[in-house]
Amino acid sequence: MSSQTLREARKYEEVYEKMIPEEERPKFHLSARVGWMNDPNGFSWYKGEYHLFYQYHPYSTHWGPMHWAHAVSSDLLHWKLLPAALAPDEIYDKDGCFSGSALELGDGRQLLMYTGVCKERQADGLYREIQTQCLAVGDGVDYVKYDGNPVLTEKDVPEGGSRFDFRDPKMWKNPDGTYSCVVGNRPADGSGQLLLYKSADGFKWEFQRVLAANRNRFGRMWECPDFFELDGKKVVLTSPQDMLPQGFEYHNGNGTLCLIGHMDPESGAFVEEANQSVDYGIDFYAPQTMRTPDGRRIMIGWMQNWDTCDMRTDEHRWYGQMSIPREIRIRDGRLWQEPIRELESLRGEKVEYRQEFVNGERELKGVKGRCVDLTVTVRPADAERGYRKFAVRFAQNDLYRTSVSYHPAESVFKIDRKFSGSRRAVIHQRRSQVRDRNGEIKLRLILDRFSAEVFINDGEHVVTSTIYTDLRADGISFFADGAVTMDVEMYELAGEVH
Ligand code: FRU
Repeated sequence: MSSQTLREARKYEEVYEKMIPEEERPKFHLSARVGWMNDPNGFSWYKGEYHLFYQYHPYSTHWGPMHWAHAVSSDLLHWKLLPAALAPDEIYDKDGCFSGSALELGDGRQLLMYTGVCKERQADGLYREIQTQCLAVGDGVDYVKYDGNPVLTEKDVPEGGSRFDFRDPKMWKNPDGTYSCVVGNRPADGSGQLLLYKSADGFKWEFQRVLAANRNRFGRMWECPDFFELDGKKVVLTSPQDMLPQGFEYHNGNGTLCLIGHMDPESGAFVEEANQSVDYGIDFYAPQTMRTPDGRRIMIGWMQNWDTCDMRTDEHRWYGQMSIPREIRIRDGRLWQEPIRELESLRGEKVEYRQEFVNGERELKGVKGRCVDLTVTVRPADAERGYRKFAVRFAQNDLYRTSVSYHPAESVFKIDRKFSGSRRAVIHQRRSQVRDRNGEIKLRLILDRFSAEVFINDGEHVVTSTIYTDLRADGISFFADGAVTMDVEMYELAGEVH
């Protein structure tokens, strides 16, 4: 039986999504059905389809009491929207159904685990959010909250752990049929830690150990954790709040962190070997992964940043997009990402140029558009003399342009969206350092109407940013300070879709 709150949300989204013209949405990135979207939730495979839920406030383009929206897809690109799955309608989640995950139970039902938020007055008179982990069970469309909720509370948190910051469970099924989940928490040192729990049936959960501890190294509270094995390594993904930049890493305040390591066979503890940002652009947060039936590990993130949400204008009835789903790998001790190969099915005709000489500004016939898959490989024309800068400018006309540039002397890559539709004084530039390859660089740009995702050197380094540029600005040009030769391959994307 669905509650009045859920019924209202379902009715609202059905009526008001119709007021959003298709052309005002991204072409092949999932955007908020109506209102506000944040974190991906419950990214999983169930009954022959991919399921993706997300943090959702249908009633405005701003964050509000969290619901779970729901979409399904057979290729991770074309999404069918299903009715909202969860609404904040119980005492333990009356102030929000926060992020969580999904899996298929042994009996074929779908299990959702999420954070229930309930504001309670504290001894000091202040109201604070109590966070607990809760369950709902369903058939892929309708979900019933579990009678035994909440299933994890402050009693299940190790000593010193906060009951106000205890959220975002990510569950998975173990090879022996049992279940595990990892949950973000704030320990006594005020930073973050990830707690590991196990369960025989998915309903009764038990604390196992602290999986990883921040110890105030990477921001403070760790949100939206994920944990999995990949290419012989164990990988932790999490989104720390309030990060301090370190060199060219972690420039995003609320950023993303990837820890690569292994399990100590004696103690069973996770041993860190390397750390890095997941994405080096402006807009990427709270990624979640899943394993596809054919064995790929796919990651999707919220293509936004809490601190730059003011890029929004109130002209649209939706706010928030997901990134392109990305296949991830561990190679040379780093996280590599590539757009899912299904994207190739959206490609139109190929436009190709080889060995083009650029010194100054250059345009190429047929190279333009706001929804494109564009690969540019650049080399110094003269290896001895090199070049000072190479740039691709897109979403360009007399008023607008977004540019990405590479500066080989320091091997620095920069994205600049100052002229990309923003009327606000928020951050518009981000610099990061990529591995030096003697001035050679390969950029694959995936442009949709309101975003740019740049996969550098076959996905060794990724830079993501939203843009809000007038859609008529569809020019693309190249610029070199110094002499380079470049190969260009471009496909228009999703010309025929919908
Ligand atoms: C991360 C986050 C989560 C929380 C959700 C609430 O973006 O703060 O920790 O579950 O958003 O919407």
